[in-house]
Amino acid sequence: MKDKLIVSNWKMKPNSAAEAQEILDSVRSYIELPGPEKELDLVFCPPFIFIEDVAKFLAVPSLAGISSLGAQDIAEEDNAALTGEISGPMLQKLGVRYVIIGHSERRWKLGESDEVVNKKLKAALRNNLIPIVCIGEKERDQGFNKSLEDQIARTFEGVSSEELQKCLIAYEPVWAISSNPGARPDNPESALESIEVIEGYLSLNWQINKRNMFLYGGSVNSKNAVDFLSKEKINGVLVGGASVNKEEFIKILSLIS
Ligand code: PGA
Repeated sequence: MKDKLIVSNWKMKPNSAAEAQEILDSVRSYIELPGPEKELDLVFCPPFIFIEDVAKFLAVPSLAGISSLGAQDIAEEDNAALTGEISGPMLQKLGVRYVIIGHSERRWKLGESDEVVNKKLKAALRNNLIPIVCIGEKERDQGFNKSLEDQIARTFEGVSSEELQKCLIAYEPVWAISSNPGARPDNPESALESIEVIEGYLSLNWQINKRNMFLYGGSVNSKNAVDFLSKEKINGVLVGGASVNKEEFIKILSLIS
């Protein structure tokens, strides 16, 4: 599946740099298997403490050409006293290319407001990092369109059309994320319906002519990844739990490459 992006969101795993290397070693062994060249475009977003290690692991020739480094978060300011935060310039220096913005765990479990998400989005843009902006409704109810639209309006407030085109948007229905009790994956058709709501709202309010803008995330695994990715408008997946399970992750890669 050419031109599809697989973003691994490792969240708060694994527990050591050695385990991080094990995951990447298995990806590397898979890539180096004899046979036709694997057409993959991968992004790895490890916890901050492993970013430098992961940068080194990704520099091996077989991974360097097909993988990029991502961060799971970014400070809203570039240069301020903000205990515990990591700034855009710091991420830049570490070779980070992508940054996840507004993940639902940060929004709903850690209380990150749309206003803060908006500032973090601007910090990523200011530092030439590609934002992977997570958008998703908490409940799939009658009002889900409206909640997506409101979230977009607040998240992208003050962002120009030119800047918006630099973003990737991950549609992640909160109820489908594996860490939520009772989570169930969305199905590709209704994910597409939501992506169309998002796209419709964006094109009403900004000028967008970019293709390849949307990712899907929420319990993506080896059983459903191909179904989501076979939709033209779903240009990639944001994989959480399954991305730190070596066997499961390699299975996903083998199905799409
Ligand atoms: P999940 O996580 O694949 O474990 O549901 C996706 C995400 O939270 O980005």
